[in-house]
Amino acid sequence: MHRMRAAIAVLATIILIAVSQVRSTPPPPAAPAPASSPVALPSPNVAGTTSLEETLARRRSVRSFSPRQLTAGEVGQLLWAAQGTTDEQGHRTAPSAGASYPLELYALTAAGVFRYLPADHALRLVRAADARPELGAAALGQESVASAPLVLVITGVVARTAARYGSRAERYVWLEAGHAAQNVLLQAVALGLGAVPVGAFDDGRVREILGAPADEAPLYVIPVGHPAP
Ligand SMILES: Cc1cc2nc3c(=O)[nH]c(=O)nc-3n(C[C@H](O)[C@H](O)[C@H](O)COP(=O)(O)O)c2cc1C
Repeated sequence: MHRMRAAIAVLATIILIAVSQVRSTPPPPAAPAPASSPVALPSPNVAGTTSLEETLARRRSVRSFSPRQLTAGEVGQLLWAAQGTTDEQGHRTAPSAGASYPLELYALTAAGVFRYLPADHALRLVRAADARPELGAAALGQESVASAPLVLVITGVVARTAARYGSRAERYVWLEAGHAAQNVLLQAVALGLGAVPVGAFDDGRVREILGAPADEAPLYVIPVGHPAP
């Protein structure tokens, strides 16, 4: 009986210590916000009816846009044209030196800044803020960038290509951005939209707006929209 009382007392003491420790332990630091889940885009159309020749003949830089928003299908089609995958191995619409795929692609709309995920044909939210006015300021005040309903930004990570091609990599990445950009410009024409390739911007500011790491170089900014009447 005496032993049992002693055992109960010890148990009670352990529980009290445990409870007091739990009370005095500061709450754990807040866990970092989980990365937003990807938002799937409508499947791309791979059987358009406008011929390549007509698309080439009609392409012209467009810098004034109507305020009409683009549909999710149009946004997805433009992103796919730039960097979408076209086979089971993950090869893309644009060629890439050694299939090293150094490009990243961002879409800026009124809803926020999104990164394109080629393998999933989806968007991941990077920033829930309309950054187009900021991006326009970073592009030396170009109104086409601030006012377009959709602005695509192509960046490049040279290290991905340098692993195989060394000092040739920077050239290759710039060339590749040109391939992707031309795909967007032609796709815009085929969709009845207008676009302009913009190379004049402050690299550091654009990187900040995208929340991109230091090794990701902004290469091209492409405002897209319905041409102003
Ligand atoms: C590398 C490069 C950078 C460019 N940068 C800009 C730019 O910052 N702003 C702009 O309005 N247009 C820019 N353009 C578009 C050219 O001004 C345009 O292509 C040229 O005037 C020919 O007109 P087109 O595109 O209608 O054929 C750029 C084009 C290239 C190829």
